[in-house]
Amino acid sequence: MPARGQGPAGFEAVGSVAVRTFAAHQGPGLQTTRTAHQSMDGHHVNAMAGDGSGAPHNHFADYDELPDGHFYDPDAEYEPDPEYAATLAPDAARQRRERIGPTGRPLPYFPIPGPLTDHGPAKIIAMCNQKGGVGKTTSTINLGAALAEYGRRVLLVDFDPQGALSVGLGVNPMELDLTVYNLLMERGMSADEVLLKTAVPNMDLLPSNIDLSAAEVQLVSEVARESTLQRALKPLMPDYDYIVIDCQPSLGLLTVNALTAAHKVIVPLECEFFALRGVALLTETIEKVQERLNPELELDGILATMYDSRTVHSREVLARVVEAFDDHVYHTVIGRTVRFPETTVAGEPITTYASNSVGAAAYRQLAREVLARCHAE
Ligand SMILES: Nc1ncnc2c1ncn2[C@@H]1O[C@H](COP(=O)(O)OP(=O)(O)OP(=O)(O)O)[C@@H](O)[C@H]1O
Ligand SMILES: [Mg+2]
Repeated sequence: MPARGQGPAGFEAVGSVAVRTFAAHQGPGLQTTRTAHQSMDGHHVNAMAGDGSGAPHNHFADYDELPDGHFYDPDAEYEPDPEYAATLAPDAARQRRERIGPTGRPLPYFPIPGPLTDHGPAKIIAMCNQKGGVGKTTSTINLGAALAEYGRRVLLVDFDPQGALSVGLGVNPMELDLTVYNLLMERGMSADEVLLKTAVPNMDLLPSNIDLSAAEVQLVSEVARESTLQRALKPLMPDYDYIVIDCQPSLGLLTVNALTAAHKVIVPLECEFFALRGVALLTETIEKVQERLNPELELDGILATMYDSRTVHSREVLARVVEAFDDHVYHTVIGRTVRFPETTVAGEPITTYASNSVGAAAYRQLAREVLARCHAE
């Protein structure tokens, strides 16, 4: 057994391991014995969970099974002081009474939108964050699919040369002759030649591939280079209710084009430690585009993604985001689930791939919240 010492407040250190004493979490049926493999200096060594059926699968001789009442907590390093923690976890009775949502605010009811009798002109939404892997493409596909389910006509624009949005909708970008690049760069090119129907009724796609990376360079010498996408999308606006642009993870000319074309920006933020890093630069860019190129542009909302309600860390990050952006933060929060990576492989939105899943429900709620915000204007 490793030597035991005193760790940060509220913790015991077992060797170099931070553990918490959370007996309440070990209810009946949850017999999982967790072994701890995280050193006190924050380095993640490894974490494994036994299945409760016998000996824990501990392949690391350095660490013994944790004593009863202790279990591995990956967030031990980030435990806030107890008073602060109380503000993050409203009591269950209050939650039922006031319907407190994961953002810690009372959760409003977002009505199911009624059918539309006519369509357009489209509201254009840019899904934007220069940080990579925060859920821009996942949110574009699934918000789009949920809006389409509610009878809205939706166009998704893949504005990332990596073509992840196209892949996520089952299109092989390498096989495409015409993409959004041609629409941007070739005068006289009609959108109909580039548009693809997706398997989701009411939802079309302007696909992209690596060709688009050339546009970033070629556009530099164009007249009114920042509004090239805006000009390309204009003829499509009467046919759609929502156009959602999936931006690439940068604040370069392509992203400025997306912001110039858009009415609204949605900023997905992954609920992890560095989430807010770089957001100041993003809001500055949005403000500059607003001042110089597109006075209509507005930040519609900040969307917390990959949230794990079981970890203090996720809850703490979300609380910080709400503290910083207040009402701009959507009440809808997207949980972390392996279902999303699975949908990319399947090449379809979660709303069709796993229609009854929590992830599908979350994006449907987001669609209702986005519609409610639009209608409130
Ligand atoms: N809520 C979620 N839970 C779990 N995994 C998720 C979730 N959302 C997205 N992912 C996964 O995280 C990875 C990154 O997501 P995504 O591609 O949507 O991010 P992105 O911001 O578009 O990335 P990039 O900046 O590279 O374009 C993908 O593998 C995706 O399947
Ligand atoms: Mg992406």
